[in-house]
Amino acid sequence: MKLRIDSLGQTETLARIIAKLVRPRDMIVLSGEMGAGKTTFTQGLGKAMGVTETITSPTFNLLHNYRSRRLALHHADLFRLERTGELVDLGLDELQDAGGVVVVEWGDVVGDELGDALVVSFSHGDAVIDEPGEQTTESRLITIEPRGAQWLGRMQKLGDELSRSFKVLARG
Ligand SMILES: Nc1ncnc2c1ncn2[C@@H]1O[C@H](COP(=O)(O)OP(=O)(O)O)[C@@H](O)[C@H]1O
Ligand SMILES: [Mg+2]
Repeated sequence: MKLRIDSLGQTETLARIIAKLVRPRDMIVLSGEMGAGKTTFTQGLGKAMGVTETITSPTFNLLHNYRSRRLALHHADLFRLERTGELVDLGLDELQDAGGVVVVEWGDVVGDELGDALVVSFSHGDAVIDEPGEQTTESRLITIEPRGAQWLGRMQKLGDELSRSFKVLARG
């Protein structure tokens, strides 16, 4: 599924829609270059899940853990991962088994090693300068794909919800 978002606020809306569908043991893989919006998305997701703590980028610690009313949120960033052994050390499998929701920035760098997931990819897409001297628009192109069975049954619902708020460029 491919969609275009036009503002920072819409990234929060996207996160809120996905937050409504999350279940214990879910994995969400975020891909996209630096500054694409992965951390911003996770902040929106956490907020919508009821995390009250400030969510900050786990670039240096690799993993941050948060509690919410309903579910735990585990936020990892593999950008600085140096050995695959480090991935095992993070213990994401165990956190999933314990019923948490795991979000992994740069999760694509380990291929499909993280298993079933909702894979959300961010790109700057066609950001344009509207007026000379003005800031670039905050548009992003987002691709959302289920990997494995985990999210498959929720894609119809997700697509329906998203098309209410976004210009969905492609579905299926
Ligand atoms: N539509 C948008 N979605 C997400 N971030 C946006 C958007 N428009 C502008 N931004 C800005 O881009 C930056 C994204 O940074 P961040 O979320 O840390 O990216 P990443 O984690 O992918 O490196 C933030 O400064 C954010 O305010
Ligand atoms: Mg980040």
